[in-house]
Amino acid sequence: MKKPASPDVGKSSNVVWHAGHVSRADRERLNGHRGVVLWFTGLSGSGKSTIANAVELRLHQQGCHTYVCDGDNIRHGLNGDLGFSPTDRVENIRRIAEVAKLFMDAGMIILTAFISPYRADRARARERVPPGDFIEVYCRCPLEVCEQRDVKGMYRRARAGEIKEFTGISAPYEEPEAAEVVLNTHQQSQEECVEAVVGYLRRAGVLAAKPA
Ligand code: ADX
Repeated sequence: MKKPASPDVGKSSNVVWHAGHVSRADRERLNGHRGVVLWFTGLSGSGKSTIANAVELRLHQQGCHTYVCDGDNIRHGLNGDLGFSPTDRVENIRRIAEVAKLFMDAGMIILTAFISPYRADRARARERVPPGDFIEVYCRCPLEVCEQRDVKGMYRRARAGEIKEFTGISAPYEEPEAAEVVLNTHQQSQEECVEAVVGYLRRAGVLAAKPA
């Protein structure tokens, strides 16, 4: 059997990468800002989606091209075939990392809001894009607080044993060790969290396109 041409190809053989006429840098110049992956991680109820959506709104109002990919929404479509076993979570994050990379290549600021509980999966997602283009945002919030919030009533059901392998209760969450941005969502206001993320993007030079 012929070996795949690239480690990225996996099972597909006889596939050849085509470069288009318009580059990522061309799109970024048109957009007026860089494309990056803003990867939100944290327990269910830690504020990932809320903050990601608030950051998106702020960036959109500033004229940035953005998109939010949210765990619950993506599991209604693209990843509707996946559950919450360790294997399915790995595949969930692998696919989202690829989707995020495509959006970034399209010159956009893509905000992903997935629990993404495993450090190794987040590291793999980071490795898929050039250094500096993956910005990990850890929504740090004690389990007790997430459980008190219990916006979707899932912690109660997980405690009752009705939902198996629930992150924080019966499945692990591995905290980031070196996230670019750490938000203490139980202490900081939504506005402060948004400012922390947007401030990071400003300082990192994301909000201005690289000169030609
Ligand atoms: S991840 O672990 O694979 O990254 P993802 O972010 O896509 O998870 O989905 C998490 C959302 O699915 C939670 O916010 C919650 O609403 C729902 N959910 C349903 N079952 C579980 C479970 N066993 N563990 C965690 N979240 C679950």
